[in-house]
Amino acid sequence: MAPKVLVSDKLSETAVQIFRDRGVEVDYLPDLGKDKDKLLDVIGQYDGLAIRSATKVTEKILAAAGNLKVIGRAGIGVDNVDIPAASKKGVIVMNTPFGNSVTTAEHAIAMMFAVARQLPEASVSTHAGKWEKNRFMGVELFNKTLGVIGAGNIGSIVCDRALGLHMKVVAYDPFLSEERAKAMGVTKVELDELLARADFITLHVPLTDKTRNILSAENIAKTKKGVRIINCARGGLVDEGALAEALTNGQVAGAAFDVFEVEPATESPLFHLPNVVVTPHLGAATTEAQENVALQVAEQMSDYLLTGA
Ligand code: MLT
Repeated sequence: MAPKVLVSDKLSETAVQIFRDRGVEVDYLPDLGKDKDKLLDVIGQYDGLAIRSATKVTEKILAAAGNLKVIGRAGIGVDNVDIPAASKKGVIVMNTPFGNSVTTAEHAIAMMFAVARQLPEASVSTHAGKWEKNRFMGVELFNKTLGVIGAGNIGSIVCDRALGLHMKVVAYDPFLSEERAKAMGVTKVELDELLARADFITLHVPLTDKTRNILSAENIAKTKKGVRIINCARGGLVDEGALAEALTNGQVAGAAFDVFEVEPATESPLFHLPNVVVTPHLGAATTEAQENVALQVAEQMSDYLLTGA
């Protein structure tokens, strides 16, 4: 009998086609992930579950998933899956660590430009017919120091693009070797040194017990006055309340955030502050990245369900 997969979040049609072509039965119900009760009712029928970020795979869902063998996350972060509960049940959790890296790195660079030149506010003002040419004085990126926290798949692409802009790049990442840093053209530093030197700071680490609030009130106070902070990684890495305070007292000159402690974010201490650019978790939102992750997740899950590989 063909294995059966449920796609419970919005995923490119490519994934559905690949499952079918590979002989995997697939139900594409992209709104189901938001309806916990319905998901609970049907999950028992499936061998595989393909998700993005809306579906929360809790211990309760896993308990009802009698046939489930694999969960495939079309994207990088698996923080919407209860990994210990899945492991206890022998359910494999796979992600697609490379498919959206370029797209997310490009979003971080776009956010850095946006906050350096106050582009969203200037756009709103110009649309309103105000022509406030003197209001929006920006700063150059050229020759500035970018502090990259986390130099993995996404962080290393950000480093490369920033070097292309002739920025100086310092990176804090306990997993980064001196040799790799040298090959990348960046300077490996400890966190305190990065905080003291960077004109812009961008975060590219997952949210774990070690990284939660890595930019705490205490660490924000160690930054160079006038720093601009970009977070396109995960909400919870930066203490939003402390950052709002630092933006208000001038320690931090600007912030660009794509991710929030609570998502969907309908409120945040950062909302409505001047020179804060916000987007609704669009880091991976390009047609190219969504094609990549859909294709990769469908191939990986099909391989596992059909051959155990
Ligand atoms: C990811 O973890 O891949 C990103 O946050 C993208 C997303 O889920 O939208």
